[in-house]
Order: sequence, then structure tokens, then C-alpha cells
Amino acid sequence: GAQLVAAGKKVFKKCAACHAVGAGAKNKSGPQLNGLIGRTMGTVDGFKYSNVFKAAAQEGRVWDEESLAEFLAKPRSYLKGTKMSFSGLKKEADIVSLTAYLKANSE
Ligand code: HEM
Repeated sequence: GAQLVAAGKKVFKKCAACHAVGAGAKNKSGPQLNGLIGRTMGTVDGFKYSNVFKAAAQEGRVWDEESLAEFLAKPRSYLKGTKMSFSGLKKEADIVSLTAYLKANSE
């Protein structure tokens, strides 16, 4: 619901130094995250991904709620070799709300 999305927007502050989402979002040091749920991994135009993301794109792997939750809990374990330097979200509730927020930006 709307409350979950609002909570996720707050959690997104941890991501906002590197990622933009919403109308007019541009790539920063990380790719823009519009339409993330349902998007093939590593496919934002003009972004230079690491090799592990290029491989995921070639394999056609798609972001869904499950893969995103695993990635956000431990980015560098889920995609070994990623250049995303973020240790991960410790709280399950943060992952749930953040996913709802990103999903709201995927419609
Ligand atoms: C990649 C989410 C925090 C830098 C990604 C991707 C997602 C994501 C979903 C893959 C996008 C795609 O496949 O196109 C998040 C979320 C964050 C977060 C939700 C906060 C909880 C950060 C931070 C940084 C960062 C703090 C910078 C210090 C990057 C970079 C990539 C990336 C550089 C590309 C990785 C690669 O090519 O290996 N992020 N991120 N992210 N993120 Fe983040």
C-alpha cells in the first residue's frame, strides 16, 4: 500500500547518492532504476556495467521481487564481481518497503 511505498522512499536515501528513480531519472554512478521490476539485468542504455552484469544481461536474467531481495541483502554475494559498493540492507522490512517503492516506479 501507500504507506509501504512511503517507507521505501525513505530507505531509498541509502541508494540516492548513486541511483535516481522517477520522472527524468538519469544514470549517476549507478544506473537509473525506473521500471526495474521486469527489467533485464544490466541493460540500461549508456551505463557501463561490470562483467558480471554484462553476463547476466546475456543470460537474459530479469529483476523480480525475489532476485532483487537477494541482491539487496548481499549485493556482492548475489552477483560476484559487481562494482556496486554497498554492503546490503540488514533489515528485511527495509527490503520489503524498498521493493514496493521500486515496484511503484515500475508501472
Ligand atoms: C547496480 C539497486 C545502492 C552503485 C544496481 C542495480 C540495482 C541497484 C537494482 C542493478 C541495476 C541494473 O541491472 O540495471 C540499488 C539499491 C541501493 C543501491 C536499491 C540501495 C539500497 C548503491 C550505492 C551505490 C550503488 C550506495 C554506490 C556507492 C551501483 C553501481 C551499479 C549498481 C555502480 C552497477 C553495478 C555493476 O555494474 O556491477 N544497484 N543500489 N548502488 N549500483 Fe546500486
